[in-house]
Amino acid sequence: MKSFMMQGAKILSTGSAVPNFSLNNYEMSEIVNTSHEWIFTRTGIEERRLLTGTKKSVTDLAIMASRNALNKISMDPQDIDLIILATSSPNDLFGSASQVQSELNAVNAVAFDLTAACSGFVLGIVTAYQFLQNGSYRNVLVIGADVLSKWIDWSDRSTCILFGDAAGATVLQSCSKEDNSILEFQLNTDGNYANHLSIAYKEEINPHPILNLYQGSFKYVSMNGKEVYKFAVSQVPLSILKCLNSLNISVGDIDWLLLHQANERILKAVAEKLSISENKIIANLSKYGNTSAASIPLALDEAIQDKKICHNDIIVISGFGAGLTWGTIIMKWKSL
Ligand code: COA
Repeated sequence: MKSFMMQGAKILSTGSAVPNFSLNNYEMSEIVNTSHEWIFTRTGIEERRLLTGTKKSVTDLAIMASRNALNKISMDPQDIDLIILATSSPNDLFGSASQVQSELNAVNAVAFDLTAACSGFVLGIVTAYQFLQNGSYRNVLVIGADVLSKWIDWSDRSTCILFGDAAGATVLQSCSKEDNSILEFQLNTDGNYANHLSIAYKEEINPHPILNLYQGSFKYVSMNGKEVYKFAVSQVPLSILKCLNSLNISVGDIDWLLLHQANERILKAVAEKLSISENKIIANLSKYGNTSAASIPLALDEAIQDKKICHNDIIVISGFGAGLTWGTIIMKWKSL
């Protein structure tokens, strides 16, 4: 621990990575009983990227996205103090962040995983912010990466059409309070509804003969789509309003609405509830589907590359999903 001085934090760079293999809705309808029209009208998704082939895992995408972010600012990986890998699809239940640390040669960084499904990136940024604000660390790499294709039942048309694989990464650095970019945040969890969206661990029926010890394995993604939809559309606007109120700024001050890319109808419904014009919505889910923890940093990286987001723009970022967990960050974008 270096100091308790309260400092600011800003994003220095973003990066992203998606697998090469793309599956569009027409191709999907050869795998399950569905159609492009059904998927597109209900979700806005046209295609998604899937990590195919052997020995490929979430760490491959996380490393690519991280290198992409670090290269843009020519940052030496050895300058990173902390790596937070937000993922719900690690290739090691003890955590995958240490593999990312090793591959990046970020020898001075402590690294850990953070599991909060589609809210993972938002929680990752807020966690990083605490370390930056209190002066413990100077440079933090926050990655959102998921390969949910490995946890999908590819005969379940109600879930397999929704998800895609990707990774997004951001490099955050401490800065003066005047340059602080993270204006406010608000986080929530309601575990009473955890079963609306889960990858449950199921014990096998037969216990160990001597120890009465039941072992099992994780099952596939299971989801109550209607309940998740209702939860997102009701809770996310409230979370955003709480943040805006505590900052004493109005909806009219928002330049960009960057929500977890779950479903275009959710994005539009949240914007409509807050009276935010549709042209302020950042959306790329038609190309990638719901990429879980990767969706926000992937969309952020694209929006920056497309030069949509400008210096001092106010961005409202909200994540929501399994847990149930949801949260908002209000950011004032600082260009380098
Ligand atoms: N293709 C064609 N038909 C499908 C289908 C598919 N892929 N999936 C379901 N259906 C059918 C159902 O079987 C049902 O048929 P029935 O009326 O004969 O029983 C019908 O379509 C309606 O299903 P329903 O589940 O009521 O659809 P919906 O309008 O609620 O849309 C979702 C389903 C998943 C698109 C929607 O609930 C949703 O987007 N929820 C949020 C999910 C989400 O974002 N999760 C991640 C959050 S992080």
